[in-house]
Amino acid sequence: MKKQIRLNAFAMNCVAHQSPGLWTHPRDRTTEYNRLPYWTDLARTLERGRFDGLFLADVLGVYDVFGGSPDAALRNATQTPANDPMLLISAMAAVTENLGFGVTSNLSYEPPYTFARRMSTLDHLTEGRIGWNVVTGYLDSAAKGAGKDKQTAHDDRYDVADEYMEVVYKLWEGSWEDDAVLRDRISGIFADPAKVHRVRHAGNNYRVDAIHLCEPSPQRTPVLYQAGTSPRGRQFAAEHAECVFMSGPSAKIIAPRVAAIRELAAKAGRNPAEILMFSMFTIILGRTEAEAKAKYADYRSHINPEGALTLMSGWTGVDFSTYDLDQQVRHVENDAGRTAMDNITRADPDRVWTVREVAQHVGIGGIGPVAIGTPEKVADEIEAWFDQTDVDGLNVPFAVSPGDFADIADMLVPELTRRGRYKGAYAKGSLREKLFGAGRARLSAPHPAVQHRPHIRAKAAE
Ligand SMILES: Cc1cc2nc3c(=O)[nH]c(=O)nc-3n(C[C@H](O)[C@H](O)[C@H](O)COP(=O)(O)O)c2cc1C
Repeated sequence: MKKQIRLNAFAMNCVAHQSPGLWTHPRDRTTEYNRLPYWTDLARTLERGRFDGLFLADVLGVYDVFGGSPDAALRNATQTPANDPMLLISAMAAVTENLGFGVTSNLSYEPPYTFARRMSTLDHLTEGRIGWNVVTGYLDSAAKGAGKDKQTAHDDRYDVADEYMEVVYKLWEGSWEDDAVLRDRISGIFADPAKVHRVRHAGNNYRVDAIHLCEPSPQRTPVLYQAGTSPRGRQFAAEHAECVFMSGPSAKIIAPRVAAIRELAAKAGRNPAEILMFSMFTIILGRTEAEAKAKYADYRSHINPEGALTLMSGWTGVDFSTYDLDQQVRHVENDAGRTAMDNITRADPDRVWTVREVAQHVGIGGIGPVAIGTPEKVADEIEAWFDQTDVDGLNVPFAVSPGDFADIADMLVPELTRRGRYKGAYAKGSLREKLFGAGRARLSAPHPAVQHRPHIRAKAAE
């Protein structure tokens, strides 16, 4: 049987997100990003389309690599201004029942103790529909804002992240026993202190001596996403991630990354089929081919090439304002993200990119492929993409929002459902259960979080 196709919508608490310039299109509503009705409407639209989740990117820092200043980012609303994504989630959860929320949070500038509390709170308020995209950042501007001279070196960030994960696992999984909360009105005892354990951690980067502040939430540890696919990033994903989000312009680039992470996961003792891979995939639909093509051409007329290069400069750490537009992009290694640079250089040596081509491609949806056509044609392309890459789902950026997601809900989802490739109804339970099956609300062995549970720790100590 062919895999079910999972869909996440990809958005950020900012204007335009991955399609700089498209905020000027009359159909786009992302300039209303700072008002709740935009988000609650989006959430309802996604649930109507039975999307698995809304994946919320978040980038700390300003895109100031292009031209060495924030000016281009400010002029073009290139993910600037950027509001906090977490604060949107309660409102969206209140108007939906099943939609999952994968929220990005950068661990580099926040202690695990306070972050763990915010995620537990969201897991309670969403009744177990929360996921966390674990990122460490790629902009020096964020480090400077947080009181450092520059960001930590690329691979070292993942080492710090490993320790951060250990601490949050201890807080989420190891502090409160399952039956610690009594809520007993007769005895007047709320929680049994003997069943709430102090987390003591003293490592290279973090020290904690505290109990977790929240009682156990439905999933405890949120569903874990990861999105960096450099060699060190893949290792991190293989150890911790339940879902991996990757981006690349072709199946030729995505397929080996999927295979490599599955192989590393198997080496780490995990079931490789249980790491769900989502790849970026932009979708532009029309009732007819002509309508879809006209829509795409109209969108393209709103692309902002400077905004697109401002994004790419931030992702890669390379100032593209110093390049001639017809210059070929050559590989450079630095402390920004490595996946973005690989995508337009060495990941596919047969595909050479000029700076102009990068600006045009990234201008709609970022660096993923763009499928344009009728629901039937796009469904064919998605099925072929699944066959070629072995991914489990798509993370779908928009040109205009929420219009493109409404098109998917109204046109593509019925077609994928008809083909037996898309769920007819949501599964019951938490986000983790919806993704991995009934009874799986919490992480299962051999995931490294599990060893921190009190009864497993006690057994290991015997
Ligand atoms: C598809 C995709 C989505 C990402 N989303 C975010 C994000 O929302 N916030 C962020 O700070 N980093 C994001 N990143 C950056 C990664 O977390 C990571 O910092 C970057 O890719 C560098 O790691 P790498 O060299 O291992 O790829 C994303 C990366 C990819 C490939």
